[in-house]
Amino acid sequence: MSGIPSGGRDVAVVLGTRPEIIKLAPLIRLLGERARIVHTGQHYDSSLSGTFFANFGLPRPHLLLDGATGPWGRGDQIGSLTSELARAFVADPPRAVVVQGDTNSTSAGAQAAHYCGIPVVHVEAGLRSGDRAMPEEINRLVVGVLADVHCAATDRAAANLLATGTAPERIRVTGNTVVEATLMSLPAPGERDRIAREHGAHGPFVLATVHRPENTDGAERLRALLTALAGIGERVVMPLHPRTRAKAKQFGLDGLLDRLDVIEPVDHPTFLTLADRARLLVSDSGGVQEEATVLKKPLLVVRTSTERPEAVAAGFSRLVEPGRPLLDAARAALDDPDLHARLAGTASPYGDGSASRQIHALATALADRAPLPGAVPVR
Ligand code: UD1
Ligand code: UDP
Repeated sequence: MSGIPSGGRDVAVVLGTRPEIIKLAPLIRLLGERARIVHTGQHYDSSLSGTFFANFGLPRPHLLLDGATGPWGRGDQIGSLTSELARAFVADPPRAVVVQGDTNSTSAGAQAAHYCGIPVVHVEAGLRSGDRAMPEEINRLVVGVLADVHCAATDRAAANLLATGTAPERIRVTGNTVVEATLMSLPAPGERDRIAREHGAHGPFVLATVHRPENTDGAERLRALLTALAGIGERVVMPLHPRTRAKAKQFGLDGLLDRLDVIEPVDHPTFLTLADRARLLVSDSGGVQEEATVLKKPLLVVRTSTERPEAVAAGFSRLVEPGRPLLDAARAALDDPDLHARLAGTASPYGDGSASRQIHALATALADRAPLPGAVPVR
């Protein structure tokens, strides 16, 4: 554990992975001197962590744990992080703890805070895929029980919380902070031209990301997915998550990767530029499902279920199985002459870019033991 004295930084923001940094960055900036950034160390490569601190101009973490690293299972990782975070919170208690999303870091942050008697704000609360085989679904359920304030991105997420008995007074529908994070990171058009040139992203291409265990941890499914991508008949640019790289190597699928335009994970402005310039997105990412609705891009979600059905209902994304269904859906999307125009006129279901401001008001009210602002959802 390494850190610097927290001073008056009384709102601890616990994060550990790339999407948490991206989605909490606008809130951290609003919290200013009140933000105590606690990094669990779950993502430790700079291409998944430090790069995003730099992208958003965030200060270095005030506390960095090393308990998440190592070849551990979920129990060990969540247990170790919970214990390290709890010791840190006992030594120097914040007035509130903010966690985001559904990672092991999110679960550990909420557990440690709750067991230390510190109120918890859950950003992006209420998502449910219904798939208990997803580690993230279990993390969402755990945090849903522990959180004191639930910041739901949509009415549907709020309804999920109400259905499980969460008191309406503790729920607010705020939108998703990814909207303002995307607007902050997306470069101006001229800069996008430069970044696209730098990455050779001229001409038509598809942008793909894959990292979910359901796609990476079984050889046959990963083979089917990569084979379909290689068969789309269009250049496929793929910033490769380290988990996927390791699994492809383990299963002897490097040859399939050679048929794609594989690059290292890129920073947020570069990723958004590539997404903006791509004809089609293919991904199993949560954040990309939301960003597609801001960038107005079609997305094939290679998953058996999604906790983000709003993007499907709005017409931005479609669930597909790897293999033939992915290939057919990609060709259909690429051949649809009206698709981009339809999406250009469709509003994002994830809010108007004010989520971080609303969550800032909620987190500081909670820390100040003041009444929570905002409307209570109707049951
Ligand atoms: C984690 C989250 C997932 C989130 C994703 C964002 C959980 C259960 N999963 O998945 O919800 O969508 O982050 O990207 O919390 N590795 C590196 N360098 C790193 C980090 C990881 O090489 O900096 C490799 C390691 O081999 C590690 C593997 O990637 O074992 C998986 O990392 P881990 O953080 O456990 O899960 P992710 O797949 O990244
Ligand atoms: N992203 C990025 N560079 C990349 C790939 C993704 O900046 O090379 C961003 C993307 O814009 C999105 C976030 O990472 O905001 C999604 O993270 P990831 O897919 O790892 O996690 P998930 O959202 O599925 O939890």
